[in-house]
Amino acid sequence: MKAVTWQGKRDVRVDEVPDPKIQEPTDAVIRVTSSGLCGSDLHLYEVLTPFMTPGDILGHEPIGIVEEVGAEVTNLQPGDRVVVPFQISCGHCFMCSAGLQTQCETTQVTSEGMGAPLFGYTRLYGAVPGAQAEYLRVPQAQYGPMKIPEGPADDRFLYLSDVLPTAWQAVAYADVPQGGTVAVLGLGPIGDMACRIARARGAERVFGVDLVTERLTRARARGVETYDLRSFDSEKELVAAIQDETDGRGPDAVIDAVGTEAHGSAAARMVQQAAAVMPRAISGPIAERFSVDRLAALHTAIELVRRGGTISLSGVYGGMADPLPMLTLFDKQIQMRMGQANVRRWSDEIMPYLTDEDPLGVDGFATHHVPLSDAPHAYEMFQRKQDGAVKVVMRP
Ligand SMILES: NC(=O)c1ccc[n+]([C@@H]2O[C@H](COP(=O)([O-])OP(=O)(O)OC[C@H]3O[C@@H](n4cnc5c(N)ncnc54)[C@H](O)[C@@H]3O)[C@@H](O)[C@H]2O)c1
Ligand SMILES: [Zn+2]
Ligand SMILES: [Zn+2]
Repeated sequence: MKAVTWQGKRDVRVDEVPDPKIQEPTDAVIRVTSSGLCGSDLHLYEVLTPFMTPGDILGHEPIGIVEEVGAEVTNLQPGDRVVVPFQISCGHCFMCSAGLQTQCETTQVTSEGMGAPLFGYTRLYGAVPGAQAEYLRVPQAQYGPMKIPEGPADDRFLYLSDVLPTAWQAVAYADVPQGGTVAVLGLGPIGDMACRIARARGAERVFGVDLVTERLTRARARGVETYDLRSFDSEKELVAAIQDETDGRGPDAVIDAVGTEAHGSAAARMVQQAAAVMPRAISGPIAERFSVDRLAALHTAIELVRRGGTISLSGVYGGMADPLPMLTLFDKQIQMRMGQANVRRWSDEIMPYLTDEDPLGVDGFATHHVPLSDAPHAYEMFQRKQDGAVKVVMRP
């Protein structure tokens, strides 16, 4: 079959690889019909290189048709249409029963000291072959895949694999009071969707921050009060501008949908590299005025949130020894919640929103649909934020 493979830093290719097969009685194999490209894939593309092996198959946002099931998968049959969570979890252990599927005790990657394995996501997360491919082996298929109705196009349900539950969890963890306010840092697919969900779930005002024109425009069109990082001289000014709108206090909650680049000791260099691939017009002025720091967005969140408010991190952080302003965190009595999204924890709550009325705008959420063979270009376009790319969906 054809699959998108990682070959090295900023080098992905479409290769011919062996078809996946059932290996365990709890496996299924699906034929992938659509597969998302995610901000998390960009971490692999550039800075998680040390944790990748050339030939690794990328991707973790699949929807498709069941081809074959193992003997213990009684809930699915060949021909069923399914969307598959980005994490692999068993559904019956202590953690899964508590709605913490990313911490599944049956599947944890204990050799690396990590939680549940993820499709297409480094050896830290089990080196599981990913979903940007024609076929996908799905372990723990007795639990993970969600059956979805025939009819609507893939995009209606595709985002149940990652974007929707991630944004949903970001909003749930942010714990915005009814009629309250929330600021969302980063308006990529996750931040954009978090804004939509926050509004749908009763936040009175949603402030969105980014530095890419198309992303700001998209959010503004859905009622988000947007702030362009490029138009402020310092982080302090940005924080002051949003605090002015909230009686000087700051929003009840801040969602960080930016994240950072995971790192070892070479963190600063890695962030510089990430800045280096952004268009000069963006990276130059920003680097001058804002700390090009792997924790930049988190520091902004800490300054911005009101006293006693909540910070919800969905952007991925990977540092092991990052200094944080503990005095401010403690004195402001800030609550922080974070983690990979527990997909099946939220999926039943999200499903009623995936209707013809389309309150979250999933049907038109993707900016680009491309064949799998265009993956190398798609990665480059998405990383450089070219051509208005916000969400790219590949069609094997
Ligand atoms: N927790 C989870 O389960 C989970 C799931 C999916 C993605 N993620 C993570 O969420 C993050 C966002 O994902 P995405 O797909 O939306 O990616 P993305 O890279 O498209 O979005 C990040 C956005 O942040 C903006 N940005 C950069 N610096 C900023 C700053 N200082 N202030 C405000 N905005 C800034 C960028 O312009 C970009 O639009 C990534 O770190 C990704 O790995 C987490
Ligand atoms: Zn993703
Ligand atoms: Zn489990």
